[in-house]
Amino acid sequence: MRWCLLLLALASARGQDTCQSSPEPQYLLFGTKTAYNYVNRNLPNLNPQNIPGCQAKAIWLLNRHGATNPEADELPQLQHLTAFRDNVVKNYNNGYDKEPRMCLGDQSLLARWGWIPRQNLTFAGDLTTNGYMGTQELAQSWVSRYPSLLTDNKHDYLFKFAKDKRSLESFHAFTAGLFRSRPEDLELPQVNDETLVMPDKFCPTWSRDIGDSNETLRQRDIFESKHEWEDMVANISSRLGFTYNIDRSIIKDIYQMCRYNKAWDITQISPWCSAFSREDLRRFEYSEDLETFYKYGYGSETSPKLACPLIKDMMDFFHKHVDANVPQQPVSQILFGEAPALLLLTGALGGRRDDAPLTGDNFHTVPTQNRKWSSSVASPFNGNLAAVLYKCNPNGNFGYKDRHQILFLQNEQTMDLPFCKVGLCEWPDVKVRLGEIADKCNLDFCNGAASISGVVGLSLGLVAFFVRYLF
Ligand SMILES: *[C@@H]1O[C@H](CO)[C@@H](O)[C@H](O)[C@H]1NC(C)=O
Ligand SMILES: *[C@@H]1O[C@H](CO)[C@@H](O)[C@H](O)[C@H]1NC(C)=O
Ligand SMILES: *[C@@H]1O[C@H](CO)[C@@H](O)[C@H](O)[C@H]1NC(C)=O
Repeated sequence: MRWCLLLLALASARGQDTCQSSPEPQYLLFGTKTAYNYVNRNLPNLNPQNIPGCQAKAIWLLNRHGATNPEADELPQLQHLTAFRDNVVKNYNNGYDKEPRMCLGDQSLLARWGWIPRQNLTFAGDLTTNGYMGTQELAQSWVSRYPSLLTDNKHDYLFKFAKDKRSLESFHAFTAGLFRSRPEDLELPQVNDETLVMPDKFCPTWSRDIGDSNETLRQRDIFESKHEWEDMVANISSRLGFTYNIDRSIIKDIYQMCRYNKAWDITQISPWCSAFSREDLRRFEYSEDLETFYKYGYGSETSPKLACPLIKDMMDFFHKHVDANVPQQPVSQILFGEAPALLLLTGALGGRRDDAPLTGDNFHTVPTQNRKWSSSVASPFNGNLAAVLYKCNPNGNFGYKDRHQILFLQNEQTMDLPFCKVGLCEWPDVKVRLGEIADKCNLDFCNGAASISGVVGLSLGLVAFFVRYLF
């Protein structure tokens, strides 16, 4: 008890100090490696999603996998953190006493931190135990919301995913949550369609001109070359007991370890997070938002087009239900994909669109601080995007113009889309907006030689946009 009070006193005595081991609120939005519970604190939600005067008829749902182990290409650097940690401990043992510094509690947590031997090449990129359980929980949450659609009848479902090990694990975890039994026994209706759920992996022209192009990272690089970033590097180095600035790549590894730790166990303190202040973590989040905005979002004219097969898949599914006179199966079409698919789809739907583009220079503006484009919210671990078809009574008291309505949900929360009212969309409006995208869907450019308009041509437009917005 006295120990806790001492820590508290230490933490409050130094305003700039970070102390993960004290009960201060932390910043928990870590971009594409955010735990689902940090963006959706309602999980598991056990209330059915009722809309007055309507009945849910069909659901289309795209899910990202849960928390994972580090990828094979991340392992070597992250494993080096053990040796780096020893240096930090040595710094403090040698009497390091500069500001800002780590609190005593964090120092001792870091000293006790150890690499988990299971985090090796054999299991690289796999779902963690927590990632598996989170996926199961998510499935159960959907069952509670739509019991009439997510039934025990396997013919009500069609699952679509890629053949890789992680997608298969996600499928197993999700269906174990749905049926509370061994999914292998069920022979569930499924298709392997990796081009559908991993649209960024099968478009060579896009990869060349946008996905792997340095130009795409320009705004991120501008942000990270600011004096403010340099100042942050100095502060982080100081917290780790160094009197000189440590390598930026090591700082990125530390951030990576911090957010993995927080995703693997949301209740555990990660001593690596104590290298950062809240404001530092917000900068790292923005840096990734700049990357995803230009790679998968509105910063590229071409990228949202990659999601048109997903929109077509959704529209074909709904047409089958709307156009038929008798009930159709399946009623639940469930896809498993990765972060790019969710981000691309968000952009293609017109969701999370800000009035001004994100740039390396506008981090401190009010619109950017309140930005809608957010990798943390749009693509956390277990992130998901659902569209639900409702059949409604158009002559009732609720003002529905059409018998069919579509509700869009991101992470189980209603999604704000430009062609909808308060999250609910009239089917004819959906047909106009998304039907056109589906009908015009053509990815021929993916294998063409001509370069596609990436951020290069657009950046002039963005500058003009931004200038207009400033003055
Ligand atoms: C990874 O760890 C597991 C168990 O700890 C072990 O069985 C496996 O051989 C290891 N793989 C590699 C590539 O070291
Ligand atoms: C892109 O960036 C990488 C790493 O900074 C560099 O090695 C490479 O030469 C750059 N490519 C181009 C075309 O500028
Ligand atoms: C670095 O730390 C100092 C004081 O410890 C603080 O005033 C400053 O805002 C910090 N800089 C950044 C970029 O966070």
